[in-house]
Amino acid sequence: MTRTLLIDTDTASDDAVALIMALRSPDVRVAAITVVAGNAPVAQATSNALFTVELCGANVPVYSGAEAPLLRKLVIADWFHGADGLGDHGYKPAKRRAEPGHAVDALIQTVRDNPGIEIVTLGPLTNLAMALLREPKLAASVKRCVVMGGAPCCVGNVTPAAEFNLWVDPEAARIVFRSGLPLEMVGWQLCCGGAALDEKDVARALALKNPVAEFAIRCNSAASEAFFKQTGQRGISLPDPVTMGIALNPALCTSWSAHYVEIEVSSDLTRGMTLVDRLNVATDPRNRDVWANAIEQDRKVHLCWSLDIPKWKELLFSALT
Ligand code: RIB
Ligand code: CA
Repeated sequence: MTRTLLIDTDTASDDAVALIMALRSPDVRVAAITVVAGNAPVAQATSNALFTVELCGANVPVYSGAEAPLLRKLVIADWFHGADGLGDHGYKPAKRRAEPGHAVDALIQTVRDNPGIEIVTLGPLTNLAMALLREPKLAASVKRCVVMGGAPCCVGNVTPAAEFNLWVDPEAARIVFRSGLPLEMVGWQLCCGGAALDEKDVARALALKNPVAEFAIRCNSAASEAFFKQTGQRGISLPDPVTMGIALNPALCTSWSAHYVEIEVSSDLTRGMTLVDRLNVATDPRNRDVWANAIEQDRKVHLCWSLDIPKWKELLFSALT
């Protein structure tokens, strides 16, 4: 039975590859793509999403959404993805236009129309948080919500404490993590090491000699440089495609566990940090007050700790073929 996905994205270069994986998967129907400000301003991210949908020859509605975080100023990641989010190669805008209406309304309607839908978030959680504030009951109609975000028990990629998506809009992240949605969290650390595309992988993709594979590599040129500056590792890190891989095939996550997770919203130093109760001590008397919300709702997040890298790369290459 074909599964239905809604993808929320701040479309830059790694998001684009994740969209390609979903749009070209025989196992899912993408009901809608909702766009949020993050890597790029929402207009640019929307244009990037439309470009990717058109490149794939897909017929999927794209809706433009939140222009800024709930309470904070937008901080984009042009330092990582380039000014246009796609490595600044001057891709011509798509002919296709975004649908009329706001992404938050479209998100709510799409979930209502498709009970049992699976949501995949690839950017800051502003759209999803706004939808949940409008319709708290929405969570009950969602089968899975796979979130690209967080730095679970590890260093962040935008500050020492936090990963970019949750750092941009920590208040939205807190609303989503407290909403009762069935969350699966894919932290940024899973896209590093062997999961980053090395030069062999890049050569294999380019040898496919088709516009989609060429775009997938080329639009990540700025991100590849930034990844080297950030980590000292050569390669193309693809957090959103790793997340999409796990969304498409949960077996790609080779170890996971469920824990309470809270998001830091007060401290500037640790803004957006994902506090994971990895040792299950939140219920100890000394911690109960601070973790009361999570304990009362008994809302645990499924965290993925390891990825079947060869299988994930095969899934990626099958989408580029
Ligand atoms: O931290 C990585 C995440 O932030 C990815 O989703 C990337 O596209 C950016 O949105
Ligand atoms: Ca993203």
